[in-house]
Amino acid sequence: QPAPVICIDGPTASGKGTIAALVAEKLGFALLDSGALYRITGLAASRAGLDITEANAPAIADLVRSKAITFTPNHRVLLDGDDISLAIRTEEAGMNASRVAVFPAVREALLQVQRDFRRLPGLVGDGRDMGTVIFPEAPLKVYLTASAECRAERRYKQLISKGLSANMADLLADLQARDARDMHRAAAPLKPAEDALYLDNSSGTIDEAVQQVLTWWEQRQ
Ligand code: C5P
Repeated sequence: QPAPVICIDGPTASGKGTIAALVAEKLGFALLDSGALYRITGLAASRAGLDITEANAPAIADLVRSKAITFTPNHRVLLDGDDISLAIRTEEAGMNASRVAVFPAVREALLQVQRDFRRLPGLVGDGRDMGTVIFPEAPLKVYLTASAECRAERRYKQLISKGLSANMADLLADLQARDARDMHRAAAPLKPAEDALYLDNSSGTIDEAVQQVLTWWEQRQ
């Protein structure tokens, strides 16, 4: 019996990451922050001087295959041993992630990397295509939604709390551009899986959202 997976997909800054981490902690499950992999890929490309263009997509895919990517137990992210935890969290890194994520060659290079996170007693994966492409047989798929304004405000607070600078109007515009690209791309667009359960994270607290996922999970047992 393969390890069970809980998929949490949704748009930028919907609270997926926080909710996924808390659910994983509660259940003692492993965690896959799949967005980090696309962020790392974008960063690796720009550090290698590769422009994010369709012509460079095969080279970017080869580059990410050649890199050692490590998630440490204390939530640091290493690229060939270099701590890039903060560098991948900027808005620019998010935008570059969504630009490399359009290329099927890049998605293909990251496919097995993501599936390798699966282990007993289980995995919580958050991203855009966890339930539709990476773990289509997952027993629980959650599609997280929240209004764009609400998400922009959340991202604003997140950036400020990390000591990074932020501007509300720019954030909202960036987020809408990123949503549009993620939803309208041909390869693994952001959309709810047919069997996904919807969770609206606009008004409730993070704890309530976590509790809802845990309740759904118990009902699956
Ligand atoms: O979730 P996060 O904001 O870190 O994701 C960054 C970008 O990576 C997204 O905007 C999306 O384009 C891409 N992504 C993806 N598939 C995933 C996770 C993230 O295409 N499973």
